[in-house]
Amino acid sequence: MLYSARFKKHQPEIAGGTRMRLLASVLILSLTVLFVIACGDSGTETSTVRPTNSPVASAPTATPDELASARINFQKNCVNCHGAKGEGGPKEVDGKKFRVPALREGHALQHTDEKFVVQITEGDEEMPAFKDKLTAAEITDLVKFIRKELQGK
Ligand code: HEC
Repeated sequence: MLYSARFKKHQPEIAGGTRMRLLASVLILSLTVLFVIACGDSGTETSTVRPTNSPVASAPTATPDELASARINFQKNCVNCHGAKGEGGPKEVDGKKFRVPALREGHALQHTDEKFVVQITEGDEEMPAFKDKLTAAEITDLVKFIRKELQGK
């Protein structure tokens, strides 16, 4: 009688202790799981960051700086005929009417970089020559700008 009474009295305590220990290990376990998930996450993060970085790594084709100054040159020298988005169309500049080809679509998509460089440097029937206004590097950057920002290539 006495023993069982004591046992009954102690039982909840024992159970409570076990529950505490169980809770603690569950807590530790879930923290470990969280930690592993967090590490796994940062792992995928670095691997998703790397591809977005790679265009910058392959920068020789076009750095943001080149494009920035090319954009300014385009605004200054080309926009009045070719349009801000390279849409072209009928334009009137200095009282002269031009039918300006689009740079963002149509034939311009097929024409090579070299052809673009010649066109900009030497001009064409109505397209003015820019060899006295822009350096060869500035003209190459303009072609990169046309490809990347106007044609989205
Ligand atoms: C006075 C208007 C005018 C200005 C300014 C002008 N263009 Fe043009 N551009 C033309 C016309 C018109 C053509 C079509 C060819 C022709 O008739 O001479 C052309 C053709 C081109 C082509 C060839 C497109 C193709 O399909 O192959 C490129 C590239 C080009 N221009 C880039 C430029 C750039 C870059 C600038 C600024 C540095 C510029 N143009 C300034 C009128 C202009």
